[in-house]
Amino acid sequence: MNISERTIETARGPMGWLEAGTGWPVILMHGCPLTAAMWRPQLERVPAGWRFVAPDLRGFGRTPLGDVPATMDTYARDVLALMDTLEIDTATIGGLSMGGYVAFAMHRLAPARFTGLVLADTRAQADTPEGREGRAALRRAVAAGGPPAVASQMLPKLLAPRADDSIVAAVRLMIESTSAAGIDAAIAAMMDRPDSTPDLPRVSCPAVLLVGEHDAITPVADSEAMRGALRRSTLTVIPGAGHLANIESPGTFSRGLADFLLAPI
Ligand code: MLT
Repeated sequence: MNISERTIETARGPMGWLEAGTGWPVILMHGCPLTAAMWRPQLERVPAGWRFVAPDLRGFGRTPLGDVPATMDTYARDVLALMDTLEIDTATIGGLSMGGYVAFAMHRLAPARFTGLVLADTRAQADTPEGREGRAALRRAVAAGGPPAVASQMLPKLLAPRADDSIVAAVRLMIESTSAAGIDAAIAAMMDRPDSTPDLPRVSCPAVLLVGEHDAITPVADSEAMRGALRRSTLTVIPGAGHLANIESPGTFSRGLADFLLAPI
């Protein structure tokens, strides 16, 4: 499938994104410290009649960080501005991990723009005090060693223990291609994100939860908790995969997503 790399000037500044397919739009937000390129396995398998749009969030890939303080709301408003520029009124919207946190922020700002919600390897709750300490340590690692240090620290948690060497190398390369400033801003934004748990019962559109069986960052139990609180949702556990389930098991993940798009519950 032909994947195009685009950039456009939105009301909030320039934004880069990847896209493939034509038809009903699906917006997919990436995790941290990754870029829109993490969605290539799904962009290569867009179901007929659908258009997948994967933005680079502010400070990642081809979208500059700019001088607006990054928060989940900043990222959310940026993606809503991209949708405006592309004249996409409503879409199935979602993301993996931090991308899911951004989807929650978008839903708080503009619930009417959701026709469906995709929550992959993510969670609704805010950081625990220990989680915030971990983030502070990671910010120190970014300052001292840049993206390579972040890659070394995060890779064991991002991928299942038995992940293929080629996948480990590809994810490392993607992390090392990101900017230290973009990663630092995103860690700070994640640290301060609100609890999205109270939002879950307010989601009226259908939702799909996809999570790697061995996800060490946002374990299956987090998805099960969201499943219980969402009115119309379905949960698929991806066997053998870790936190980056869409990259580790692209076929199973893409089938789960396509099943949801073609026959939402
Ligand atoms: C991500 O994958 O986006 C982050 O690791 C999520 C997190 O640290 O909470």
